[in-house]
Amino acid sequence: MGVMTGKAGLVIGVANQQSIAWAIAEKLAGEGASVGLTYAAPNLERRVRGLSARLGAETALPCDVNDDAAIDAACAKMAEAHGGIDFIVHAVAYAPGAELAAGVIGTSRRGFLDTMEVSAYSLVALARGALPYFRPGASMLTLTYIGSDRVCSGYNVMGVAKAALESICRYLATDLGRHGVRVNAISAGPIRTSAAIGLPNFQEMLAKRASQSPIRRNVTHADVANSALFLLSDQSGGTTGSVVWVDGGYNIMGTWADAEAAPAPVAEALEH
Ligand SMILES: NC(=O)c1ccc[n+]([C@@H]2O[C@H](COP(=O)([O-])OP(=O)(O)OC[C@H]3O[C@@H](n4cnc5c(N)ncnc54)[C@H](O)[C@@H]3O)[C@@H](O)[C@H]2O)c1
Repeated sequence: MGVMTGKAGLVIGVANQQSIAWAIAEKLAGEGASVGLTYAAPNLERRVRGLSARLGAETALPCDVNDDAAIDAACAKMAEAHGGIDFIVHAVAYAPGAELAAGVIGTSRRGFLDTMEVSAYSLVALARGALPYFRPGASMLTLTYIGSDRVCSGYNVMGVAKAALESICRYLATDLGRHGVRVNAISAGPIRTSAAIGLPNFQEMLAKRASQSPIRRNVTHADVANSALFLLSDQSGGTTGSVVWVDGGYNIMGTWADAEAAPAPVAEALEH
């Protein structure tokens, strides 16, 4: 018996085994949840069905988040199979590559709208699709990044979309609170996934982050999945509208000591 036993929901954003959504899905299923996976496009169906079978589930549903009818059908099928919906994981983002490279100044109208639709508006669309089926105590979770409120090289229009996503999270938390539904976000540190490796200098950023974070390592899929479990379970019943950092503490840093030159302050203090 796990903390998610008796709960059912959809995890949206599994493309492969490196997807953060897959780590979350495995964690939830391991804690007793009935997890329905979705795939964004027909070419992903076979892989997502295979992953779904590994969870001991049959549910792999088509769901392009730009398609309201697909969202409604996925929510209805999940609710029909399990009597309602207790959680939705939104781990979806997209920006045309040329837009990411163009700086915000070079963002086209079309590229801006496409990025915002998939990466931000889709949380609203999913909330609306699932609302008729949410059971009291239900929880929604989305994934964001520090590029929402700091300028991160190469993140550009995606940072703008993440700022909107975090704001949507707060407004939805207010709209849905009266229905007993909570909405939160995890702001994760960089993790090697198919979306992330498309960002310029990703490898270099991973190395820097490991040395610049208080915990002196990069966060893992497991770190994010563990926090996701907390936010999706009843253990976090008093938390909504929050952006929870799972970034090894990187966001608290203002300046960085040169790791080689600086004395280790704790060791120094212990000497006195
Ligand atoms: N990897 C990181 O370093 C990192 C850090 C912070 C936040 N995030 C966020 O985590 C989330 C998951 O990304 P990931 O890193 O696991 O990469 P990923 O490529 O595995 O996941 C992105 C998912 O978005 C889906 N998607 C794109 N367009 C879609 C559409 N129209 N309809 C439905 N699904 C669509 C893709 O199919 C894919 O499954 C994203 O929101 C990302 O911004 C990632």
